[in-house]
Amino acid sequence: PLQAVIFDLDGVIADTAVVHRAAWEQLAAEIDAPFDEGIAARMKGVDRRGSLEILLERAPRSFLEHEKRALEERKNAYYVERIGQFGPEQLLPGAREAVEAVRRAGLRVGLASASRNAPLLLERMGIAPLFDVIVDAARIARSKPDPEIFLAAAAALGVPPEACLGVEDAAAGISSIHAAGMVAIGIGQREDLGEADIVLPGLIAFRMADYVDNKNGATA
Ligand code: G6P
Ligand code: MG
Repeated sequence: PLQAVIFDLDGVIADTAVVHRAAWEQLAAEIDAPFDEGIAARMKGVDRRGSLEILLERAPRSFLEHEKRALEERKNAYYVERIGQFGPEQLLPGAREAVEAVRRAGLRVGLASASRNAPLLLERMGIAPLFDVIVDAARIARSKPDPEIFLAAAAALGVPPEACLGVEDAAAGISSIHAAGMVAIGIGQREDLGEADIVLPGLIAFRMADYVDNKNGATA
């Protein structure tokens, strides 16, 4: 039976996928690296260094480690500047309601975001107390699509992975959920989330009753 739902943040709960993208695009222009839809899609859900490495694959020159650190800091500064004014208005439609529905059903709620800005964003949007567990991205060694982050969230919740439902907007995230042995809900369009077990256009379409059998507890 289903015992927990583990949500991604950027592009699932917060309207920040576009903000990450804009910050990377700005950096790309500054270092003359090409940027297109394919690169943007591959970066989604991937941690800061992993995203930078994707951007640098087609950069006109190679960068030393200290330069890479400076580039990451620059991108993060652009991102942090943009989210500086964020509040509850940046919650995606249906996000708060979906998390509340999971809690009302008696299930536990986790957050599996690769973003080091996740705790700050949850605070700003006023939903931090709705999460039983927030995985500290800084403690995760392997980026999505590796299952580490979803497994860490399940372990922190004290729930076996097979009793968890994962919710993601990125292909790398869906792979991570499946590699963790969980059922995957994809948020967005089927063609971007081919492997997802269920695809919803947004959390506004999330119905807890579709995943929970009221009589016998929950079923995924
Ligand atoms: C999430 C987002 C990515 C972002 C990553 C790292 O996975 O989907 O777009 O690059 O977090 O975010 P950070 O805030 O730590 O740079
Ligand atoms: Mg995401």
